Amino acid sequence: MINKIDETRKNFDDDLLKINNLSSLEDLRIKYLSRKGTVSQLFESLKDVPKEEKPKVGQALNKLKIHTQSKFDEMQEKLKENNSASEKFLDLSLPGRLHTIGSKHILTQTLDEIKNIFRGLGFSVHEGPELESDYNNFEALNFAPDHPARDMQDTFFVTEKFLLRTHTSPVQVRLMTEKKPPLRAIMPGKVFRNEAISAKSYCLFHQVEGLYVDTDVTFAELKGTLVAFAKQFYGQDVKYRFRASFFPFTEPSAEMDVWWQPKGKSGRWLEVLGCGMVDPNVLRNVGIDPEKYTGYAFGMGVERTAMLKYGIGDIRILFDNDKRFLTQF
Ligand code: PHE
Repeated sequence: MINKIDETRKNFDDDLLKINNLSSLEDLRIKYLSRKGTVSQLFESLKDVPKEEKPKVGQALNKLKIHTQSKFDEMQEKLKENNSASEKFLDLSLPGRLHTIGSKHILTQTLDEIKNIFRGLGFSVHEGPELESDYNNFEALNFAPDHPARDMQDTFFVTEKFLLRTHTSPVQVRLMTEKKPPLRAIMPGKVFRNEAISAKSYCLFHQVEGLYVDTDVTFAELKGTLVAFAKQFYGQDVKYRFRASFFPFTEPSAEMDVWWQPKGKSGRWLEVLGCGMVDPNVLRNVGIDPEKYTGYAFGMGVERTAMLKYGIGDIRILFDNDKRFLTQF
């Protein structure tokens, strides 16, 4: 019996060393000190001990009980103190953890703004594929196979007859072939040119094409629409001008310039879009009678438009995806 008591004490001490929280301490209490615990059971078996040994065993048992109970109390005290100490260090005034939220790329924002302005002017939005036929990209738009104007746009050819579109104007051809006038739509999308990459040009950029075909569409309406757009987009006091120009698919053709005035530097005119009256040959190519219908078209670069509005000096930065740049917008 004395041996059993010594063994229990040793086991208890070993188990106590492993305790590091209040719930494992509770397990320890149940194992040794509860009504069915080891210590209580030893007291139970005291009745079977021969009379003459009883005082000695009883004494040893009492010692065990005092030992285990006081160690238990000590440990409980210590753990409770630890708990309240960590509660004291919970600083509720610390700022919360912020989750960063993504935002739209500046090009998408610019495109959304352009779309919204033209929607307000009665244009719908129409899209076409980036891989185009030579016919839609050039031939139907009045670029003859050996037309020198093809040199204006350095083309990525995929096969002899298919290419990555060099402008959004082929979507005009698709729209006019699919639907009959009156037509009024803008056509946003990516375009590709095999150009040397520099601060001013990139192999890929975005354009927004505009087309309006109906009876009696005039150049004055074209100008009116583009001026209304420029005022909404760049501001009411925007300085603009139209210059005569050339495109194979419009006649007459013009380019619109906007005055660019960086702070503290000398300003200059920047070309923002090309436009003109749809060439009768183009209307004929898509099966629209040029005697009955007229139309205007325009096309602008989204990168250039964003760069002008937000004072961005290098087109490449729009494709770098550098967070330091993107988070400014
Ligand atoms: N497609 C022409 C370009 O990429 C722009 C343009 C579109 C000009 C429509 C006139 C009419 O340069």
